[in-house]
Amino acid sequence: MTDERPPVEPVLQTELGALYAGDCVPLMRALPAGSVDLFFADPPFNLGKDYGVAAPDNHTEDRYLKWCFEWLSEGVRLLKPGGSMFVYNLPKWSIPIGEFLRTRLTFRHWITVEIKFGLPITGRLYPSHYGLLYFVKGKRPNRFDPPRLAMPTCRHCGGEIPDYGGYKDKMNPKGLNLSDVWSDIAPVRHSRFKNREANELSLKLMDRVLDIGSAPGDIVLDPFGGAGTTYVAAELKHRRWIGMELSTADAIVDRFADLSQDRANLRRYRSGINTLFTPEALALRARSGMGRNNHRYNIEGAAPDARLNGEVHQLSLDTTETVESIEGGLTKSPAVGSLPDERH
Ligand SMILES: C[S@@+](CC[C@H](N)C(=O)[O-])C[C@H]1O[C@@H](n2cnc3c(N)ncnc32)[C@H](O)[C@@H]1O
Repeated sequence: MTDERPPVEPVLQTELGALYAGDCVPLMRALPAGSVDLFFADPPFNLGKDYGVAAPDNHTEDRYLKWCFEWLSEGVRLLKPGGSMFVYNLPKWSIPIGEFLRTRLTFRHWITVEIKFGLPITGRLYPSHYGLLYFVKGKRPNRFDPPRLAMPTCRHCGGEIPDYGGYKDKMNPKGLNLSDVWSDIAPVRHSRFKNREANELSLKLMDRVLDIGSAPGDIVLDPFGGAGTTYVAAELKHRRWIGMELSTADAIVDRFADLSQDRANLRRYRSGINTLFTPEALALRARSGMGRNNHRYNIEGAAPDARLNGEVHQLSLDTTETVESIEGGLTKSPAVGSLPDERH
């Protein structure tokens, strides 16, 4: 850091991460290239949402895209070779954003996240999905560990809904392959799950994204904090994280004061991954006379993913340790790093 760039203190610092108040573009410019393992962005969609006066959300299309390309360029610069970038947006913006990234990174997937948003619009199809673009820096990702999903089952008897024909004994006991259409992510609407008035993503979505493209100890950067869902997922999943928020960061600070509800939610989501049946489905199946094996599923001994349930990955990171020890890492740990003062 030079004298022209006075350091700013994070507004929130945890064992694994730090949240900075300010505009993400100059904040990101202050970080060294090739220092981030996973970049995730859920920017404002230019829909005129109220994120506070500091972060207006009603620009001309050209101005909005020009701004997107600015923070995307920084994201590309910050990624390590083999690092992953995920960008969440409306299909309308995912097209130009995807085109911009295509010439800089390697395209992996356009993931369709099926969520009904807004009301049906006369003369248009009912918009029911977001695009989650997934790119990697260089040819191959350093991490690629998608979770497997439990089979959809009848909520009355636990019987499987899709017809798996005669191949039941060939099913992977760890669950179904994750596809690029995600229809099982509920929007965060209920107050029990919501941490602020404005929109926030589901912890389940972020759990999945971090599973796919990162491992414990990796550095995750999300320039658009909102209610801090990415940071909560990173913290609970033992990733280091760097956060930024231009408007108020109060919702994030409050949320981190007590993560017990998020921890419980995450544990519940994760009981439905890397297993062929959720615990609820297994209980229903037992009650309906479908034992664990009488449908020829080879699930004996296949427990739901233990990575969080049993706290198996008790990663102990020395947070004061500099990240220099990690090849190509940041020069300082995100928790102790300093950034230029861009507070408004
Ligand atoms: C769609 S929300 C993100 C929600 C977040 N993913 C979550 O799950 O809670 C976008 C956030 O970006 C913030 N924001 C807008 N412009 C910004 C900028 N230039 N730098 C940093 N944050 C910004 C807004 O205030 C808003 O909270």
